Amino acid sequence: MSTWSSANIKRRNGNGSYTIKPVWVWGPRYSGLLWMALICMAFPQFVRAQSHDASIRFDKDAQVFRIDAADTSYVIGINEKKQVQTLYWGKRLCADDIFAAPHSDPGSSSFDSSTNTTQQEFVAWGGGLYVEPDLKVTFPDGNRDLVLHYVSYTIKGSQLSILLKDISRDVYVELQYKVDAVTGILRRSAQVQNRTSGQLTIEQISAATWNLPRGMDYRLRYLTGRWAAEWNLHEQVIQPGKTILESRRGSTGDQNNPWFAIDWNGSNDQDSGDVWFGDLGWSGSWQISIEQDQMQQVRVTGGPNSFDFGYRLIPGEHLQTPYFYAGYSHEGIGGASRLLHRFEISSILPHAPNPKLRPVLYNSWEATEFKVDEADQEALAEKAASIGVERFVVDDGWFGQRANDHAGLGDWYVNPVKFPQGLKPLIDKVHSLGMDFGLWVEPEMVNPDSDLYREHPDWVLNFTGRPRSEGRNQLMLNLARPDVRAFVFGFLDKLLSDNDIAFLKWDYNRNWSEPGWPAVAPDEQKRVYIDYVRNLYSILDELREKHPGIEIESCSGGGSRVDLGIMRYTDEMWPSDNTDAFDRLQIQDGFSYAYAPGVMMAWVTDSPTWVNQRTLSLEYRFLSAMQGSLGIGANLNHWKPEDFRTAKKMVAEYKQIRETVQRGSLYRLISPQNGSEQSVTESVSVDQRHAIAFVFLHSSQKLYPFPRIFLRGLKPEVMYRAAALSGRLVDGQPAIESGAYWMQHGFDAELRGDFKAAAFTLEALQN
Ligand code: GLA
Repeated sequence: MSTWSSANIKRRNGNGSYTIKPVWVWGPRYSGLLWMALICMAFPQFVRAQSHDASIRFDKDAQVFRIDAADTSYVIGINEKKQVQTLYWGKRLCADDIFAAPHSDPGSSSFDSSTNTTQQEFVAWGGGLYVEPDLKVTFPDGNRDLVLHYVSYTIKGSQLSILLKDISRDVYVELQYKVDAVTGILRRSAQVQNRTSGQLTIEQISAATWNLPRGMDYRLRYLTGRWAAEWNLHEQVIQPGKTILESRRGSTGDQNNPWFAIDWNGSNDQDSGDVWFGDLGWSGSWQISIEQDQMQQVRVTGGPNSFDFGYRLIPGEHLQTPYFYAGYSHEGIGGASRLLHRFEISSILPHAPNPKLRPVLYNSWEATEFKVDEADQEALAEKAASIGVERFVVDDGWFGQRANDHAGLGDWYVNPVKFPQGLKPLIDKVHSLGMDFGLWVEPEMVNPDSDLYREHPDWVLNFTGRPRSEGRNQLMLNLARPDVRAFVFGFLDKLLSDNDIAFLKWDYNRNWSEPGWPAVAPDEQKRVYIDYVRNLYSILDELREKHPGIEIESCSGGGSRVDLGIMRYTDEMWPSDNTDAFDRLQIQDGFSYAYAPGVMMAWVTDSPTWVNQRTLSLEYRFLSAMQGSLGIGANLNHWKPEDFRTAKKMVAEYKQIRETVQRGSLYRLISPQNGSEQSVTESVSVDQRHAIAFVFLHSSQKLYPFPRIFLRGLKPEVMYRAAALSGRLVDGQPAIESGAYWMQHGFDAELRGDFKAAAFTLEALQN
């Protein structure tokens, strides 16, 4: 929709004064900014170099903070009511653009007051607020009104903090911003400080509100799922009202993932157009509200879930929220994903900015389930080593009286029948085969049929005298309790100290029920939602500190605990228990919208698959898994000699391309979603010298040829040699052409039949 809109151009004059020129422009939606971009182009002297630098500046006269990094600018100011107001979030502005002092919105009527219609960065419930609040508190005297005003700020390098205070009570909130120079992604959080002489209870708290440019016709993308069917991408037009993405389950959940992306409705290109995206770094119950108000303003507010929540702050105490990360890309949803992937690699992962490449692992879960013992695992380890596997992982079943999922969780001693001399002989064997050793644990759970539960029935989440609902025959330990935290850290520390273990697969196979904590006072119990997750993070942190070589996978019956909070402490993620290589194309595609292929574990398992009884060739299964971090989960005892030959070749080839896949830029060229008959992804190395395209045909139809593949991300002027990693080059297609040719003319693949797959590499011939 086109409208008249104004863009205030304020220029610094030679004598130090400013000239403000309102420019009226006619154009679509956010046209003021489009015109400003044109003005930047017309007057290049105002354009600052678009490099990897970050700056935070404060214009004292106008009371405006400007954050610039990578290709993004974020501008906020203190208005005449001392509210912190969002002024701009989008493509980087000209360096000399100066913002005028902000003014609150006048409000539209007595029904929609200024406090509701002004785009505020963080607003408490008080003074007649109806939009989603960032903070809601109750004081013991019954007062529930809180109105926050600006007090002061500090800027330290890439961090800005803004202090707010209630108009009469000594309740302070510090808004914290950190900008990433590489991607322009902002990390926001808030700290509520009780400096009063009495207690207060926080009933709702968000990390941040992100305000989008005023406009209509936005589209929201988000991810939903369930066990064995995670990472479904959804799109919906944002309408007046609210969409809530959330988990009330105590952990992240796969029903919604705490990721969102918003762009203009109707834009279809993966690689161009404005996209605002965000990801909440929290592994407990969470909530993100996407709200379009009566004035067509869209705001995204996120933090711990306010449902069943209460957090008492005594005098002098504070509550620090999780981090809410958000960024902007003008390169479409594909560009938004690539920024997030880069950010995860350079800023989030435990070894950021240089996380180790994921080793090729073997895991016998699908092959042997709980029937693990020394001899069988050693036999599998020999076979795994013969195809080039680098890490051998023993899954569930090695501990306690764990014959199936009815018993044993909580009893973390090595089962003496299965491993009579402990784990050492197996670990030594694995090492002698040139692999490192990994082990499955599920530290937060207990089976009622366990010594631990018989000894400590009070250690689980429960309400006194009420039933304790089981999930997979297990109960949740209350990790918020100091004694439970000490137990969990203690057994893991001992396990890692007594054994040479390089890797833990940390599982979590149910959600919360009856979240009571009878050991503390009733008005303290609801803080379990925060304290539990804090203790989880602190255990992971302390373990890593004490055992610096350890690597950890976050698994939750599949992809039910994948978020930027847990990713700060874990090296890789298990996206789904669904390992059907065809289903995985969609699952992995959805996962990739928010999370990097380098953390996405993908196993080659048996065919027909247990999921769909679908038969797929070994090569197809490998190529599907090679789009992420490769693992093998098949029963090697059933393999024929030719399977070992194929696997050895594919594993060797994966090692050649894994740096490009795990660290490079991902381009989704043909989507596997919505009944598509093909799918193609391409990974391009950071230096743009290598690329790999994975090509899948689901089912040939009516003699239609495979569509031409337009590669992306290459250097147009550089010559690249194409080669088939799997499949073959089409007859007559040149092998050496420029990046421009492969991207503009495109690349032909000839696949026919059902469930066919191929992969092609491109190597630059010069720098
Ligand atoms: C969960 C995991 C599986 C496997 C089993 C073991 O379902 O997602 O990969 O480890 O637990 O019980």
